[in-house]
Amino acid sequence: MIGYGFMGRAHSNAWRQVRSFFDVPYEPVLKVICGRNESQVSKVAEHFGWQEHSTRWEEVVERPDVDVVDVCSTGHTHAPIVLAAAGARKILFCEKPLANSLSEAEEMLAAAEKNGCLHMICHNYRRAPAVSLAHELINAGEIGTIYHYRATYLQEWLHNPDSPTRWRLDKSLAGSGALGDLFSHSTDLARYLVGEITEVVSLLNTFVHQRPILDSTEMAHVDVDDAALSLVRFQNRSIGSIEATRYATGRKNFNRFEINGSKGSVSFNLERMNELELYVDEGSNSGFRTIQATDRAHPYLSGWWPPGHIIGYEHTFTHTVLELLHAIAEERLPTPNFVDGVKNQRVLDAVEHSAASRTWEAVPS
Ligand SMILES: NC(=O)c1ccc[n+]([C@@H]2O[C@H](COP(=O)([O-])OP(=O)(O)OC[C@H]3O[C@@H](n4cnc5c(N)ncnc54)[C@H](O)[C@@H]3O)[C@@H](O)[C@H]2O)c1
Repeated sequence: MIGYGFMGRAHSNAWRQVRSFFDVPYEPVLKVICGRNESQVSKVAEHFGWQEHSTRWEEVVERPDVDVVDVCSTGHTHAPIVLAAAGARKILFCEKPLANSLSEAEEMLAAAEKNGCLHMICHNYRRAPAVSLAHELINAGEIGTIYHYRATYLQEWLHNPDSPTRWRLDKSLAGSGALGDLFSHSTDLARYLVGEITEVVSLLNTFVHQRPILDSTEMAHVDVDDAALSLVRFQNRSIGSIEATRYATGRKNFNRFEINGSKGSVSFNLERMNELELYVDEGSNSGFRTIQATDRAHPYLSGWWPPGHIIGYEHTFTHTVLELLHAIAEERLPTPNFVDGVKNQRVLDAVEHSAASRTWEAVPS
C-alpha cells in the first residue's frame, strides 16, 4: 500500500478488518506499506501490523510477492504509481479522484486494460449500507421514475483564512479543490443511483487566494477551487444539482443527497449514515419514514453486529475491500472501477470547462 496518511490508515484498517468479520475468498496479508518518511512509515507499519515498510514505491510495485497495489497517496502520485503497477501486472486499487486530469485517468484505464489488470476505484460511500439499500430500492422501482437528484457535500475546515496551506490547495498536487475532493463523491453517487450525467452548467469559486505556509512567514497562492456548484442533466431525463464546499461553517462532513421519483423519494446524510429516509406516496397519511439500515438483511450487515448496534465511516472501506476480494476470486471487474473513474473525471472536466466558458457543457459518453 502506498501512503500512510488519512486514507492509508482507513485502508490499513479495512484490509485487517475484512478478514475478521466476513467470509473472504482470500486472507489479505499486509505485506508492505510505503511512504516518504522512514521514521514515520516504520511507526505506522508497526502500529497497523504491516510486515515491512519502504520509502520507494518504484521498488514496491515491482515485487513478485505483492499482488495488489493500493494507492492511498496524494493525487499527483496516482498516475505514475498506477502506470508502473499496471506495467508489473498488479491488481490496481486506487483512491478517488482517479487522477488529477482526464487525460491521466484515461491513460491509467488504458494501461490497466492493456496489461489485463483488475482495477477498482475507492468510492466507498456506495457501500454505506443505507446507500446500497437506496440503490436496491431504486432498482426495484420503489420510488418510480426519477425526476430529481439533489446533492450537497458540505465541509467547513477551510473557512478560517489563517489556516495554513497544504497539498489539497495546490493544483499541481491535487488537480482541483472541492471539485476533485468532494464533488467527485457526489458525482459517483449520482451515477450509481440515477445514471449517466450528460450535461452540466457550473461555477467554481475560490474565496481565499493566499494562505500562510506552515512554520514560515511566507504566503502561498491558492490555485484550486474552494467551492463547486453545478446543475446537471442525466441521460434518463432527470435533472439535478451538486454543491461541494469546504466553507460551509458548522457543517463537518454533510454528504447528503435526496432523490425524488414519481412514486416516492429517498434521502441520505453521511452524518447519520445508518439511516435512510424513505417516502412512498400512500395517500394523505404518508410521510418520510426513517429506516435504520442495520438489520441482518440490509446490505453488508450480516458481517457485523445485531440490529441497532450501528457501524461507522471506516466500515465503508471494509465493504469496498470485500467487493475487491470477491471480484478477484470471481475473476470479474469490481465496481466501481477505472471505467467509472474515467466517466467521473469527464464530469469533473466538463464542470471546469463550463465554469470557464460560463455555458452548458456536454459530458462525453
Ligand atoms: N475515499 C475517501 O473518502 C477519501 C477521503 C480522503 C482522501 N481520499 C483520497 O485519498 C488520497 C490521499 O488523501 P489523504 O487525505 O489520505 O492525504 P494525506 O495527506 O493524509 O496522506 C497522503 C499520503 O501520501 C503519501 N505520499 C505522498 N507522496 C508520496 C510518495 N511519492 N511516495 C509515497 N507516499 C507518498 C504521504 O506520505 C502521505 O502518507 C487522495 O487521493 C484523496 O483524494 C479519499
